[in-house]
Amino acid sequence: MPLKNLIIGVYNNFSRHNLRLHHRKIGLNQARYLRLSHNLYHGEYEWKDPKSEDEIVNITYIKKNGEKIKVRGKVGDNVLYLAHRYEIPMEGACEASLACTTCHVYVKNDYLDKLNPAEEKEDDLLDLAPFLRENSRLGCQIILTKDMEGLELELPKATRNFYVDGHTPKPH
Ligand code: FES
Repeated sequence: MPLKNLIIGVYNNFSRHNLRLHHRKIGLNQARYLRLSHNLYHGEYEWKDPKSEDEIVNITYIKKNGEKIKVRGKVGDNVLYLAHRYEIPMEGACEASLACTTCHVYVKNDYLDKLNPAEEKEDDLLDLAPFLRENSRLGCQIILTKDMEGLELELPKATRNFYVDGHTPKPH
């Protein structure tokens, strides 16, 4: 076998193995949002504009200083990566792999019922989040649907991260 084919084969096996591990770690329901099979990296989908009016989901982020930022999202957008696109300071340290709480948000009004219920792992992590409220969720687990038109997401006063000197990390 030519060396080039051997290298490609090893790379493909390695990628598939990593993807399977990731699927196992985050659950297959979430894995479909990674879109790796369409050659998009995490967050790339959220940089694409809606293709039609039917796809648009208007939402509002409320920063910790109370500033409201209206964003034109679309069905399928992950609100963590959508926040990154519009430079809203939702960190997302673990890249949506349910290993941190830096994407903590409060879901305003009656929209909690329109979201998929939190999985046990999300609930466990939320228990570790500072300033937890009844309407707390992890932003990286919120995927926009048409039902969520008008959704308001408020950022908490602080999130738990690795910095101790007041430094605000930039999203990846
Ligand atoms: S980005 Fe880490 S749990 Fe959401």
